[in-house]
Amino acid sequence: MITKPKGTTDITGNESILWEYVNSVVATMMNNYNYEFIRTPIFEASELYHRSVGETSDIVQKETYDFKDKGERNLTLRPEGTAGVVRSYLENKLYAEPDAKKYYYNGTMYRYERPQTGRMREFTQFGVEVLGSNDPIVDAEVISLQYKILEALHISNLQVNINTLGDQESRNNYRDALVKYLEPHLDCLCEDCRERFKTNPLRILDCKVDADSEILKNAPKTIDYLNEESKKRFETVLKYLDLLEIDYEVNPKIVRGLDYYDHTVFEIVSLDNCETKASVLGGGGRYNKLIKELDGPDSYGIGWACGMDRIINLLKEIDLYKDVKKQVECYVMYVSEEEKLHALEIVQDLRLNGIVTECDNLGKGLKGQFKQADRLNAKLLIILNSEDLSMGLVNVKDNATKEEEKVDISEVVDYVLGLL
Ligand code: HAM
Repeated sequence: MITKPKGTTDITGNESILWEYVNSVVATMMNNYNYEFIRTPIFEASELYHRSVGETSDIVQKETYDFKDKGERNLTLRPEGTAGVVRSYLENKLYAEPDAKKYYYNGTMYRYERPQTGRMREFTQFGVEVLGSNDPIVDAEVISLQYKILEALHISNLQVNINTLGDQESRNNYRDALVKYLEPHLDCLCEDCRERFKTNPLRILDCKVDADSEILKNAPKTIDYLNEESKKRFETVLKYLDLLEIDYEVNPKIVRGLDYYDHTVFEIVSLDNCETKASVLGGGGRYNKLIKELDGPDSYGIGWACGMDRIINLLKEIDLYKDVKKQVECYVMYVSEEEKLHALEIVQDLRLNGIVTECDNLGKGLKGQFKQADRLNAKLLIILNSEDLSMGLVNVKDNATKEEEKVDISEVVDYVLGLL
């Protein structure tokens, strides 16, 4: 038998109900905050990720799915959404529009990781990117949007871990201090970190292997190397978050694993479930240099992405969602071919009037149809028989109370809508 590739998953049954539910909450919240849906390609030129996510990031060094197409072009399955959105913004010259662009996306991403709970090779992210504004009000808006979506999903004990990397000057000052601090300890760090020391020392702070070492615990903090402007900017972001009553903690360890960030960086966790790195539900930050680095104008960007698979894993543990089941509103029952013709019309009519409706499609007898109606949690049964039909009537039965009523066939939809 052919099986699914390692690190991928099939979403079926109750999990797919949860999935659709999360998607609907996400879409509603994005709409309320006035974010526009953007769909970008699942594969892009490999160069895009090398120049944005960064040559020295784990993602580009070890995790991308790269391939050559038949035209010998170097392509990569998208490992994240930001680069594609920024590419689209530049290619379509959307920076020429008078307002900042506020985008949201929801789609599959691909990273060649060692699969484990919450860490897949194909996974889904929903996220936002705001392009063209540097106002701290946007930092507060995107962070609170992420927080409020997770809160709307009834995930408890949320906490935003927030930090700032500051502007380029602050980052350079910090980099120098970090290099000076790390140099005498290089022998104690893992091989990857010794390499990162030469290419991008900030990445060492994000190392999964050395995370618990005393050396990293005592490393200098970005926050102590900010210039006045970066410091003031961060304080303003925190003031806005206080106003919006977002629960955050300033955490100097948050530097994020992608190269494009500056200023505000953040990750969100549920404190009920935060033992491992795979419990980070989402993360993001500002990337004010990226647009220019991708040959665009000097502009601004900020965004975040949440891991859908991690959120679904968490929701499955919440009592509220344990008994979630697909509920069919009406189940239409028939036996003879003549009854089947009526059933076909009635089912169509109910469905087009917004009523979730099902009927038999396996030639089951009435007993089998009653059983299927129960499996589908049908609220109402519409039972057809030739005698009633000859008088233009059908039987509508409440599947819980077992009360039934004969209803004129032309009034079935209105009658059912009245009951639901
Ligand atoms: P990221 O931290 O790489 O950021 O990913 C964001 C979220 O995607 C993670 O917090 C996690 O929930 C989920 N995620 C990442 N990798 C996996 C995986 N292998 N399996 C399951 N879930 C995963 C970004 O991707 C940035 N583009 C976020 C951003 C947007 N920054 C600015 N704008």
